[in-house]
Amino acid sequence: MAEVKLTQLDKSYDGGKTFVLKNINLHIEDGEFVAFVGPSGCGKSTLLRMICGLEDISGGLLELDGERSNDMPPNERRVGMVFQSYALYPHMTVRENMEFGLKLAKADKAEINRRVDEAARILQLEKLLDRKPKAMSGGQRQRVAIGRSIVQEPRLFLFDEPLSNLDVSLRVQMRQELSRLHSKLKTTAIYVTHDQVEAMTLADRIVVLSPLADGAESNLEQVGAPLELYHNPCNLFVASFIGSPKMNFFRATIVEPGQKETRVKLECGTELRVCNDTRNAKSGNKVTLGIRPQDVLNHEEADGAENCITGTIETIERLGNESFIYLNHPDIHEAFIARVEDSQRRQPGAEFHVGVPAENCHLFDASGVAFSRTRSPVFD
Ligand SMILES: Nc1ncnc2c1ncn2[C@@H]1O[C@H](COP(=O)(O)OP(=O)(O)O)[C@@H](O)[C@H]1O
Ligand SMILES: [Mg+2]
Repeated sequence: MAEVKLTQLDKSYDGGKTFVLKNINLHIEDGEFVAFVGPSGCGKSTLLRMICGLEDISGGLLELDGERSNDMPPNERRVGMVFQSYALYPHMTVRENMEFGLKLAKADKAEINRRVDEAARILQLEKLLDRKPKAMSGGQRQRVAIGRSIVQEPRLFLFDEPLSNLDVSLRVQMRQELSRLHSKLKTTAIYVTHDQVEAMTLADRIVVLSPLADGAESNLEQVGAPLELYHNPCNLFVASFIGSPKMNFFRATIVEPGQKETRVKLECGTELRVCNDTRNAKSGNKVTLGIRPQDVLNHEEADGAENCITGTIETIERLGNESFIYLNHPDIHEAFIARVEDSQRRQPGAEFHVGVPAENCHLFDASGVAFSRTRSPVFD
């Protein structure tokens, strides 16, 4: 098991001209399951490869169990890596694939058998040990790839989008298997994914990365427990990345700043009360108001009710247990989506009044930084 510490870690190309990762600071505790999420191209795989030694570190410090490891050869890091492509040897059976690395390392035959049998038991591959990869499903192949890592008894698991090649139902099943595996082995794990749902369901903590912007000090946006990021995103990037469907964002202005409560006005003129601490802001400041589709109330019969935004229904997605109403509103950045339980009586073209509880609102300043919530569910 391992503790991983990254201090001001950088990755640049062209002799320091092009940065991909900048100023990454992170302390992963022994036994933790941490997910790196972010859009494609933001540097997740690069960061993972720097930790396992497949990619040079341009600047900063990597410590494994307190030991400086920037230049440690990959095979000495005792790290198990599982990729999206399973990279199994097609001409070898499951058993041969799993024992290959140990044989190379000239491990004792009895010890090899013990480890392979143990991994096969954990991953429920016992009946497949004599099969070749082509006679197995994607999920089974990925289990073999994980098994190949397990037998090495690494102190740290690194997963790079291991479930991306699987269809949806298998992905959900494998997610649960990975969860179970982690609670069994308790080996520190870092899991890269662009899928925030995967990160939310698997990880103890999530690290949100963004594509490095010109002049930005870092592209590490926020680190926190899944629900912490969901309820208290520190900026617009995290707020729009975590949660599905995405948070709704409205252009607004502060009317009356305050420590516990703030009055804001949308450009359409609608005034709202929100529970955000804006005591350091001024009346007239431009802000963005955020509200999740799941956090609204249906005010259909309450035209003119307090804290209400009115839009026109564009489309309705009826999913059975719930419906998502897509609304048009002049001040919205992208779509305005409201989750409701029943939508039988609603039709496109009709007006729809969306209740926006003050304590459910998020508020961001002109640079996208969140004002803290004064009645956030996490702290209530
Ligand atoms: N040799 C290189 N020179 C410049 N940029 C590179 C080089 N190799 C990779 N990159 C850039 O690094 C970025 C991060 O890639 P990657 O870590 O694969 O992202 P992710 O895994 O988040 O999708 C990409 O935008 C890619 O263009
Ligand atoms: Mg990648």
